[in-house]
Amino acid sequence: MHFVAGNWKMNLDRKSALALVSALRERAGQRTDLDIAVFPPFVYLDEVARSLAGSRIQVGGQNCCDEEKGAFTGEVSATMLRDVGAGWVLLGHSERRHLYGESDALIQAKVQRALSSGLRVMLCVGETLGEREAKRTEAVIGAQLKAGLQGVKPADLDRMAVAYEPVWAIGTGVNASTAQASEAHAYLRGVLSGLYTPAQARSMRILYGGSVKATNAAELMRAPDVDGCLVGGASLEASSFLGIIDGAPRL
Ligand code: PGA
Repeated sequence: MHFVAGNWKMNLDRKSALALVSALRERAGQRTDLDIAVFPPFVYLDEVARSLAGSRIQVGGQNCCDEEKGAFTGEVSATMLRDVGAGWVLLGHSERRHLYGESDALIQAKVQRALSSGLRVMLCVGETLGEREAKRTEAVIGAQLKAGLQGVKPADLDRMAVAYEPVWAIGTGVNASTAQASEAHAYLRGVLSGLYTPAQARSMRILYGGSVKATNAAELMRAPDVDGCLVGGASLEASSFLGIIDGAPRL
């Protein structure tokens, strides 16, 4: 099943967030062949989760702490996310890696904490433009994937998804071509196959993210090895996010 997810980042306010989910909720039930999730800012998670209760749209946090609880001012735990109705958490997003200096080791610890708290994890990987130009894309995304999955048991793999998000495509309006996305996704699936089994690698959803819009989503999601998309800017308005949902391949 393909997976379309909306990462709201630090956008919207309470009123517009609730208006957006009520518009999504009305239409989402029509796509029973698709997984859909939204990742609101922490402060709106509780209300968004309540307003989506009983619908097909899942809810996740954009980050969580690697520690369980305690004196970690400003942090939010995986258990707290669960407590307010989140089923997912995004980890390793490029903005966390590059703007806030999150290391592979920290992301790996967060993955472990999230899984042991019962969350599902969407692990993001992606190369910068400089890394792509230096032909280091596979080395970079392979290392990020392996580090994030270190210690993840085969039995927990079905609670994970991967998002390939080239840093140069995020928020720039320049999406990866279908060939570039397919190539990176096939590479990541090969890495998964080496770490786990080919069957587990096949069943892992690998989403593409980076300037996905209603006008390019359908083509990207039809590309080999692209199992959905993680959408930033175009997930902030019902019409554009629904356009992307409508473009997802029908099974
Ligand atoms: P974008 O962001 O769709 O605005 O490029 C994608 C993401 O960062 O998840």
